[in-house]
Amino acid sequence: MSNNDLTNVILAAGKGTRLKSSLAKVLHRAGGRTLVEHIVRACGPLKGRETVVVVGHQAEQVAAIVEPLEAVTVLQHPQNGTGHAMLVAKRSLGRAKLAVVLPGDAPLVRPETLKALVTAHRNGNAAATILSAVLADPSGYGRVVRKSETAVSAIVEESQLTDEQRDINEINSAIYCFTLEKLWPALAHVKPNNKHRELYLTDAIAALSAKGETVLAQVAADSREVLGCNTRADLADVDRVFREWKRNALMDAGVTIQLPETVLIDPDVVVGEDTIIEPTVQLLGKTKIGARCTIRTGSVLTDAVLGDEVTVEAHCVVAESRLDDGVIIGPFARLRPNNHLKAGARIGNFVELKKTTMGEGTKAMHLSYLGDAKIGAKSNVGAGTITCNYDGFHKYPTSIGNKVFIGSDTALVAPVRVGDGAYIAAGSTITENVPSDGLGIARGRQVNKPGWAAKKRRELATVEKPKRTSKRKSRRTSKRRK
Ligand code: UD1
Ligand code: MG
Repeated sequence: MSNNDLTNVILAAGKGTRLKSSLAKVLHRAGGRTLVEHIVRACGPLKGRETVVVVGHQAEQVAAIVEPLEAVTVLQHPQNGTGHAMLVAKRSLGRAKLAVVLPGDAPLVRPETLKALVTAHRNGNAAATILSAVLADPSGYGRVVRKSETAVSAIVEESQLTDEQRDINEINSAIYCFTLEKLWPALAHVKPNNKHRELYLTDAIAALSAKGETVLAQVAADSREVLGCNTRADLADVDRVFREWKRNALMDAGVTIQLPETVLIDPDVVVGEDTIIEPTVQLLGKTKIGARCTIRTGSVLTDAVLGDEVTVEAHCVVAESRLDDGVIIGPFARLRPNNHLKAGARIGNFVELKKTTMGEGTKAMHLSYLGDAKIGAKSNVGAGTITCNYDGFHKYPTSIGNKVFIGSDTALVAPVRVGDGAYIAAGSTITENVPSDGLGIARGRQVNKPGWAAKKRRELATVEKPKRTSKRKSRRTSKRRK
């Protein structure tokens, strides 16, 4: 389908008063993206001339989202309604004959639905084609009033419905295809005859119909696609649908998701076949997971890249880190940004990593902080090891070679290097480099004093005992203690 006579117009200037927010409505997020971003992306496959976004409230932030997606913006100020927004967009439409017009707050619409709308519009030789939907609860939406089975006479906003019209359950999605040379004269007739004193684009429908122009309404196959986000509850409903679609797509691609309704996955996340995702997991950002991995309950992965057969045990938090094939982390591990765990490396419970590379097969199983560290292959980092990488002003690196054994409760005061095959004695505070195959030991030498404790006990037993208090007093004291 060639659409080089068509421009997309997204109306995204409104504040969104009903959200009760300092953030403009279209900047709110659902399904892992801002509302306006979803809509710009949905328009892409139409391959129109361009996508024009009408901006107003927090125009700069909206532009910062849509311009990288190759949309152009036009400023509507003040915001005098959807009809006014369309008039503001007029100068940016160039030689387009058709416009697909979308609100900035109905982000679930799919490209195939928009394509079908344009096809119906062209085939019907229409002046306007409305994407409508039949909803069990149509309240809050403008209703589609039909004059015949195929033709529409008007859209009536909720606030202007007659009692009979209130029962109409076919609603206006606010997504339309217009033939522009017909729309402009009709819009010129529209008056701000409503309590908000706004120019409603919906009123152009009655004007077109009154002139005898063809106005069609195409009912969306999946009514969820047209859900608008006017309130926080709407946002939650829309988010729920996006998340469900994403999980279903992954399950179709061979991923097991247990209790799927508890799992939250962002749109760009990729997961390989036969990976198991347990309940209450969150996979966010650009996380990429290989095949046959297990992500156990409660773990949150953001921009993480996992190879195949990786296990993330329960309640791990992973950000911007790479875990190669066969790595096992957790439970309760925290990986802050920029770690790379090479194949077969293991991180145990209560281990925190930042900017750290661990070589193949290297382990840090218990209670450690490893920051700005490079650790070779097949090394063992004992329980409670800490890299002291920060002196209050700067960060310093720690370098640990291959097959190194770091005893428990070691403090590595960076910058410091431990050579291949070296040993560090448990409880050491290492401030100097340790040579390859050497032993680093840095702790006070132990002194044993035979019989010291027994002697001490005898001394304490002979010390005068404190005088006993009178019975009455002690009873009162014991009462008070209760
Ligand atoms: C609109 C429709 C209603 C439809 C519903 C579907 C009108 C008058 N009503 O109502 O028939 O059922 O969508 O969700 O169009 N905007 C501007 N400039 C303005 C005013 C609004 O750009 O001056 C933008 C808003 O940012 C929003 C979109 O237009 O993205 C729709 O506005 P909104 O206030 O959400 O309209 P609804 O009351 O939902
Ligand atoms: Mg709306």
